[in-house]
Amino acid sequence: MVYLNGNFIQKDKAYISIMDRGFLFGDGVYEVFPVYGNIILGLEPHLNRLQDGLDAINIKNPHSKNEWINLINKIITLNDKNSNQAIYLQISRGCDENRKHTYGQLKPTIYIQSSGIEQRDKNDLLKGKSAITREDIRWLKSNTKATSLLANTLYAQEAKECNSEEAILYRDGIVTEASSSNVFIVKDDCLYTHPKGPNILPGITRDVAIQCAKDLGIEVREEKFTKEQLMQADEVWISSSTREILPITRVDGVSISNGHSGPFWSSVYDQYQTLKS
Ligand code: PDD
Repeated sequence: MVYLNGNFIQKDKAYISIMDRGFLFGDGVYEVFPVYGNIILGLEPHLNRLQDGLDAINIKNPHSKNEWINLINKIITLNDKNSNQAIYLQISRGCDENRKHTYGQLKPTIYIQSSGIEQRDKNDLLKGKSAITREDIRWLKSNTKATSLLANTLYAQEAKECNSEEAILYRDGIVTEASSSNVFIVKDDCLYTHPKGPNILPGITRDVAIQCAKDLGIEVREEKFTKEQLMQADEVWISSSTREILPITRVDGVSISNGHSGPFWSSVYDQYQTLKS
């Protein structure tokens, strides 16, 4: 079951107009809420980021926080509330009468759906995942969680065709993030990740991973690092609401350190797991 503009309906009965600006221009924002049983991880920060995204593209938030929470909880219950779910909440600017770049006062289109979160086995993760690198040619408002994701989807597809988990992006030699996740490296017992700003999505899982690391006494620096530093790192991780925290042990076919996931990843991963129950 999905939610579309006031109605809870079957996914195959949910249609939007061809005049929807989400379809015509990718004019909208979205959020992804990871759900474990009845725990919505990072509910408040996800709702805050949704508000930031709406503000950034000048759409008036159609609901209060409590209204959003009720809608999200209803979708969780209507789907399998005992399993893990990723709740996708999409808001487009809505429909106009004619197709034009500019817009007037429109009623936003609201869509909420549930997808499964892949259950990953730590023993399998210990083997690590591979990634490719690509030049980051995205626009300079990548901190807005916009539905216009053309560059991101092309990068993700390239990674898939290379049998890789992710495409790690760099701009002017600096690693920014990946096609749908944030990137971390460990070097000499210190954890690094790109600072917040226009070049990266301020990932909620990124914040949680940083907090988990700090709780474990690991030094964390939100500082830029280069592609060369990535290749020379002791550990590389990616983080997102749907992937949690994953170890990357091969980049562009080259092993990172000894080619196995590292002890820092393992302890932060375990700490993250405790938040799910
Ligand atoms: N993607 N960077 C980008 C470009 C992303 O699309 C995402 C999330 C992240 C991680 O953000 P968070 O930790 O808040 O999930 C970073 C989601 C999962 C998606 O588009 O499906």
